Order: sequence, then structure tokens, then C-alpha cells
Amino acid sequence: MTEMLTADAPGIARAAGLLREGSLVAFGTETVYGLGGDATNARAVAAIFEAKGRPRFNPLICHYGAVEAALAHVVADARTRQVAQQFWPGPLTLVLPRRADCPVALLTSAGLDTLAVRVPDHPVAQSLLRQADRPVAAPSANRSGAVSPTTARHVLEGLSGRIAAVLDSGPCRVGVESTVLDLTGPGPVLLRPGGVPVEALEAAIGPIQRGVPHAVAHAASGLRSPGLMVSHYAPSLPVRLDAVAVAADEALLAFGPPLPGAACQFQLSLATDATEAASRLFEGLRRLDAEGARLGARGIAVMPIPTTGLGLAIADRLQRAAAPRGG
Ligand code: TXA
Ligand code: MG
Repeated sequence: MTEMLTADAPGIARAAGLLREGSLVAFGTETVYGLGGDATNARAVAAIFEAKGRPRFNPLICHYGAVEAALAHVVADARTRQVAQQFWPGPLTLVLPRRADCPVALLTSAGLDTLAVRVPDHPVAQSLLRQADRPVAAPSANRSGAVSPTTARHVLEGLSGRIAAVLDSGPCRVGVESTVLDLTGPGPVLLRPGGVPVEALEAAIGPIQRGVPHAVAHAASGLRSPGLMVSHYAPSLPVRLDAVAVAADEALLAFGPPLPGAACQFQLSLATDATEAASRLFEGLRRLDAEGARLGARGIAVMPIPTTGLGLAIADRLQRAAAPRGG
């Protein structure tokens, strides 16, 4: 049985207690719900991979209630401190060299010598992390490869019976995962576009390389097929991008005035606001998947969305949702 906890003082205290004893608790952040476990407890971390069905080579993000606590586990130079100061708490994850005395279980970062750290700004997540009083490893709280959850109900749809509890803190404000920025090398590298627009980061620290850094390429080299990681965030119906017309047997994910003639539709943002669209993206994919299947639709057509601001994170998630499912 998975307990549903309300995000009041007793609910948060119960969730913190469960984390401290090594149990798994899903909790809301400003981006998506996380599947949390004590990052210093290797058994709890192993249980996260198990509950999600996540490949062990894919490392997890450590969540902290305070900036100083996060920086204490990594090697932080002046540039790192500047970024942390400016963007934390918030939807940004930093990949940094792990300190030798870091108590986080090695399994958390899948054996890499780096650690991904983040300080979420959601008030419930903050009080949970402070009460748990330890780093909490938390991937998005969905089964591996599925669409990330932005409500407590989404979490239960995928993980009911597989985790101890869900702390219900309402729908997530940002709606896409954190931006992941690698600061281990001389130049910063964008590993995943997300809740902090890359333009805002570049305004703070200058040009950021888009690409796959050495550490991740190395970890991924163990994959049987590189395509394994490409398909992600996948609904059951096939996804077709940049649709300029829609068929009567397709579901439509609309951005702005909708194309006519779809079997059913979900509006991301009538005003074509990428931030609003990001907050509705995963809910939209879930809704169209269910409704489209009910109506016998053959797929989901997505209208074009510009890739500036949060549009870059949206494009990344949609490209993965549309990728061949081979793996
Ligand atoms: O918004 C978010 O980031 C959410 C909430 C719960 O905080 N978490 C999340 O976690 O999206 P997950 O596990 O679904 O995605 C973590 C990403 C993965 O792409 C992983 O490969 C990368 O971060 N990552 C984690 N540790 C890393 C490391 N040491 N080096 C490189 N990439 C890392
Ligand atoms: Mg995820």
C-alpha cells in the first residue's frame, strides 16, 4: 500500500521519518514529482532504481534543503558559487566533481566521480528536505521511460504499491524537469534543457556548450543500443511533431489557435506562452494518450513550438516522446 500524505505539518513529518528510515517517498517540487530516497543509504538508492525500473548506469540527482549543504558535497569554485547563488533555490541541477569525503552512496551517481546536486524552491520540498536532514536522491517519480508526473495522482498511476508514500503538494508550477548544467570542465555544458532557460544561464556565465560531456558519453557506452536512451517521456500513442495539418483520427496537442479537424485536442497555451505550455505539457500528453486511445486515434500530432525560453525544454521532451521506441 502506498500512503497518500497531505502536505501539512504532520504529513511532512511522516514523510521525513519514512525517508530517514530508508523508505521511498514521492514528493512535489517546482518542476515535477521526485521519487525520493536517502542518498546516503545504498539500499534506499538501490530501491529507487528498482521501483522505477531504471537502468543502473543512469545517475540520480541529490536534493538539498540549503545551498551550503549541497555545495559541501562537491568541489565548488567561484563560477559554481556564483551560479548557485543566483539560481538556487530553483529548477537548476549542477553536475560537479564529488568531494572525497562526500557521504552520498556511490550508486546514486552510478559510479561516476561527479555528483548532480539541486536545491528545489518548492516550500513543501524545502521543509521535507530540511526535516529529513540528509541529501535525498530523487529521479522523476515515473516508471522508467514514461511521462514525468506533475501531480500526486500521476505518481500513483505509475508507482502505486511500489513506494511507501506520496506527499501531495499539488500540481507542479514549472512542469518540466530542472535544467542540468555540467560544470566539471573548463567550459559549462548543457546536459538537459529544463526549468531555467539556457538564455538566463548564459546571461550570467557566458556561452554554454550544448552537447554530451565525457562523463555521460562514458556511462552510456555500456548501453546495448544508443537508441535506448533516446526514447523517453513516451506516451503509448505515437507522437508526430511540427504538424501543420491534423487528421480526423489523430489527437492534437495545440499551441495557439488549434488546427481544425482533430479527434480530440489539448491546448498547451492559446496565447503561445512557452512557460504556460511547459507547465501543461506532461498533463497534456497523459490526457491525449487516454482520450485518444478511447476514441481509437492512431497518434498524437503536435503543433510547432518555438525553442526559446522554456520552449527548448519542451522541444527536448517532445523529440524524445516522438523517438523510435526500439529499446
Ligand atoms: O526536475 C528534476 O530534475 C527532477 C526533480 C524530481 O528534481 N528530477 C529528475 O531526475 O528529472 P531524473 O533522474 O529523471 O533526471 C536526472 C538527469 C538524468 O538525465 C541523469 O542522466 C542526469 O540528470 N544526471 C544525474 N547525475 C548525473 C551526473 N553525475 N552526471 C551527468 N548527468 C547526471
Ligand atoms: Mg526522468
